[in-house]
Amino acid sequence: MPSTLRPSPSARTRLVGVLGSPVRHSASPAMHNAALADLGVDWSYVACEVSPDRLATALNGARDLGFVGLNLTVPHKQLAVPLMDVLDDSAREYGAVNTVVFEAEDAEGIWRPVGCLREVRGPVRSRGCNTDADALLRALGEDLGIEPRAARILLLGAGGAARAAALRLADEGVGELWLVNRTEAKATELAEEILARTPIVDVQVGYPPGDVEIILNATSLGLKESDPLPLDLTAFPVSRADGVFDMIYRPAETPLLRHAREAGCRTANGLGMLLYQGAAALELWTERTAPLEVMRRALWNEVYGAA
Ligand code: ATR
Repeated sequence: MPSTLRPSPSARTRLVGVLGSPVRHSASPAMHNAALADLGVDWSYVACEVSPDRLATALNGARDLGFVGLNLTVPHKQLAVPLMDVLDDSAREYGAVNTVVFEAEDAEGIWRPVGCLREVRGPVRSRGCNTDADALLRALGEDLGIEPRAARILLLGAGGAARAAALRLADEGVGELWLVNRTEAKATELAEEILARTPIVDVQVGYPPGDVEIILNATSLGLKESDPLPLDLTAFPVSRADGVFDMIYRPAETPLLRHAREAGCRTANGLGMLLYQGAAALELWTERTAPLEVMRRALWNEVYGAA
């Protein structure tokens, strides 16, 4: 029996899932349900459409419904920060939450993921984590052979995903970081924050005058067919980049990636990043090693169709 075929949920099945808006494109359920089946864990991973004004009530509701944990996607990653009971170092460092672990105290009074406890007694708290930043670096290396140290990077966006990316790239010693965002004030604020933390980094707002090694799209533009490009081609022709990485993975080739491919750039979508952030999230919820190859196969089948 393929590992993705599972019995129907029962009265014992526990829930875990992703909150976002839009979220119907998400490949996380396919990836995580395959992993849960492989691990023999009786949990079900669901996708819930939640608007930003309902995020706080949705988080409380998930906790009260006994969810084991959550992933957060557009537009919740920054909004969730003040809503968490505790933040781990990664979420505090990058100011964005993409993984929530619901925790309770075990018999020794140690806070553990509720998914790892036989019985949950006492209060349940939310712990906000960020598994995006490490996942991005790994995917950039594997998919595009990019080593951020000393690289010139044009980052599109200044929301939660962009913020984690920018701060992590700064930590890695990026050579030049150029920030472009629809709301320029957010890009300026992010640039100021990076300069305050890592004064050595050359970070600027706007399009670079010269070439870059990589353009990184961390906006949500490209998810919908009607979306405009996240890059102003008159201000910065895509051919001035060696590679283009789009955090979006559905469609597998966004209009930005198509332009880039046609201009001769190396391209990668966000599937590798999704895989690695998902594997790290699963390990936080289960305290077990994620079945990476099972997750990778499920994702690729979901997005590209079964081979
Ligand atoms: P996430 O938590 O996934 O990063 P987010 O914080 O809502 O989601 O960030 C979305 C990013 O996409 C932001 O950079 C946003 O630009 P603004 O800061 O100006 O809102 C960008 N974005 C979303 N819709 C956009 C649009 N229609 N045009 C241009 N940029 C857009």
